[in-house]
Amino acid sequence: MSEPKVYYFDNNATTRIAPEVVDAMIPFLREFWGNPSSAYQFGAQVHGHVEVARGHVAALINAEPKEVTFTSCGTESNNSAIHSALRTTGKRHVLTTKVEHSANINYGEALERQGHEVTYLPVESDGSLDLHRLEQSIRPDTAIVSVMYANNETGVVFPIEEVAAICRSKGVLCHTDAVQVPGKLKIDVRQLGVDFLSLSAHKLHAPKGVGMLYVKRRTKYAPYVIGGHQERGRRGGTESVANIVAFGRAAELAMATLTEENTRVRALRDRLENWILTHIPNTIRNGAKEPRLPNTTNIAFDFVEAEAVLMLLDQVGICCSSGSACTTGSLDPSHVLSAMGVPAMRARGSVRFSLGIYNTGEEVDHVLEHLPRIIQRLRDISPLNPGHPDNDQYDVEAARRKHEEDLASAQAEAISA
Ligand SMILES: Cc1ncc(COP(=O)(O)O)c(C=O)c1O
Repeated sequence: MSEPKVYYFDNNATTRIAPEVVDAMIPFLREFWGNPSSAYQFGAQVHGHVEVARGHVAALINAEPKEVTFTSCGTESNNSAIHSALRTTGKRHVLTTKVEHSANINYGEALERQGHEVTYLPVESDGSLDLHRLEQSIRPDTAIVSVMYANNETGVVFPIEEVAAICRSKGVLCHTDAVQVPGKLKIDVRQLGVDFLSLSAHKLHAPKGVGMLYVKRRTKYAPYVIGGHQERGRRGGTESVANIVAFGRAAELAMATLTEENTRVRALRDRLENWILTHIPNTIRNGAKEPRLPNTTNIAFDFVEAEAVLMLLDQVGICCSSGSACTTGSLDPSHVLSAMGVPAMRARGSVRFSLGIYNTGEEVDHVLEHLPRIIQRLRDISPLNPGHPDNDQYDVEAARRKHEEDLASAQAEAISA
């Protein structure tokens, strides 16, 4: 029985593991399963492969291998950088933005509960950052500034080189969450001048469960996961060897596919976006057109609920999302779009399409064939649509409240089921 075709437009959530990456990791599941810390040959040879992978990941960001610490995921890398800065500086303030991934926002909230202070910088309506405001917000007790390189929901790219320069001028550590960037934009830590940088392998065609934290040489470091002496004492826990080897292979491939992401994938994204914006009325792109990741578009469809759009797209095999996969199921509008001042109703009708190297022109055609009909169908029955025939006495707020109640009870039912 053949699998139904999946039209995958959610590459910012996770990516398909590249066949070359699967091939690279299989020997480390089948034959070379020794512990890389063991002294005998069977372990030592595995250790050698971990170091080769470290070299490939370091090359991806123009770092030295020693500056790369493998972790379990991007979330751990972000948490570790901030934790380390607080520990090594003894300061208590963290400066970040309102549009970070929950890996930062929720960690920041946890730190606040422990007595630290966290400032979440606002963004402009196009998702960009006011650097003057950032500079003004650095305080004498600021331990670290953590600003994402590119936003996972809108693709908007922040000027990290300038952020790092401001941090240096103030003597403050600088971290960037670059989880969405590899393979899409060139990353050069020397040029960026950051002290810490996070990556996650599953965003670049490698498996879930492995990430890395770049720690600039000579930066003081306090480990987050404390245990054995693995990763030169920076992260306890036996290395996830097959995943690390996979990460290394994916890093090599990501450097090779950079051009394709910026030409073919960008052209597909632009065709999808331009077609939607010109052929489907009452649509608008969320976030600046540039600088932006070449694979991401986030579009608001007025008078519909994104969750309904996603459900109907799913019925024709199309996978995309209404925001971060880590916040799926939440009834609140995206915190990123809210921070940009997108009205709640518009935010709730916003859909993110994130493309990748495996997408084809035919797949984009498939979306464009089904999407207009789906949006029209939902608008025809939408109580949010002022053009709806029953809407002479239209009360937007009441309709929205009713809709929220319906969604909440549907969700409660789903949870109890
Ligand atoms: C910008 C960003 N940071 C961090 C993460 C978390 O990465 P991980 O899933 O590896 O913990 C994600 C994942 O979606 C992300 O998009």
